[in-house]
Amino acid sequence: MQNLDALVAEAEAAFAAVTDPDALEQVKARFLGRNGQITGLLKALAALSPEEKKSEGAVVNRAKTTIEAALAERREAIKLAALEARLAEEALDVTLPGRKADKGGLHPVTLVMERIEALFASIGFTVADGPEIEEDFYNFTALNTPEDHPARSMHDTFYLLDEKGEVAQNVLLRTHTSPIQARYMRAHVERYRDRETMPEIRIIAPGRVYRVDSDATHSPMFHQVEGLWIGEYVSFADLKGVIADFLRRFFESDELKVRFRPSFFPFTEPSAEIDMAFMGESWLEIAGCGMVHPNVLQSAGIDPEKYQGFAFGFGPDRLAMLRYGINDLRLFYEGDQRFLRQFA
Ligand code: PHE
Repeated sequence: MQNLDALVAEAEAAFAAVTDPDALEQVKARFLGRNGQITGLLKALAALSPEEKKSEGAVVNRAKTTIEAALAERREAIKLAALEARLAEEALDVTLPGRKADKGGLHPVTLVMERIEALFASIGFTVADGPEIEEDFYNFTALNTPEDHPARSMHDTFYLLDEKGEVAQNVLLRTHTSPIQARYMRAHVERYRDRETMPEIRIIAPGRVYRVDSDATHSPMFHQVEGLWIGEYVSFADLKGVIADFLRRFFESDELKVRFRPSFFPFTEPSAEIDMAFMGESWLEIAGCGMVHPNVLQSAGIDPEKYQGFAFGFGPDRLAMLRYGINDLRLFYEGDQRFLRQFA
């Protein structure tokens, strides 16, 4: 009776030596395939006597079964190894911290604008709005700025081009938020046309403005918050009180020194620049103001004999620089996260 232990051992070793499914099938053919060794032994049984066939057949079949079992086992092992390799490769470290969504924040200039709005709201001012692409009339003419005033020169003002590529005569990017006030006064007069005495106007006009100017302290786009208070008894003393009180609250300093310096604006008379004591000795200009010029009131349909009031204009970019100790205005407009994150 032949001993097939060596053949079985050879098959087991051959199966163990391969690591991928295709190679395993090749090896299988060597033993169990059509021309494989076991198949050969089975064919050879045909030449034996019935008794020999029985005993030898049993031996060969046992060897065949053992080899088939070894093959199946190896197949499983290779499959499992492949699965484990894939799991290792696609491993997900569930102990890693999650990815947080970036938190947005308000821009420092926006924070300052909101602060200004809140402080003025606390003394009864409401917020008015208007277009950034403005008519020449509201930006200049309605504000007592005659045709030949230097503020109208191409050096300061961004004009728009019409379809033919020529400078449009009547539209520009507003150079200040004063046109909001010109529009508001007109609408106010219209609203209370039938009343003998109209209610006071007490608004601030925050927004973006544009001028042809660009360096460390000037940006072609910047912000303004202008204010307007018109009534029957609104005086220059009220102007001084409102402004000084606002600045002291804004900078949280009761000792803050404020100075009014005579100046000129076409739309106010008298006019003043507002300076704030800065770093001990020096003064820093932070706003323009004055009593609204009678021509401006008249142009809006308000009787300058009955009503009077003041207007002022702050640069919130400047106030933000002072409040946060920033020395270059351009930082506000470069969108650098390292800078902006500090305010979020
Ligand atoms: N509109 C002026 C400017 O942009 C500022 C200002 C407003 C001055 C109101 C006086 C009164 O320069």
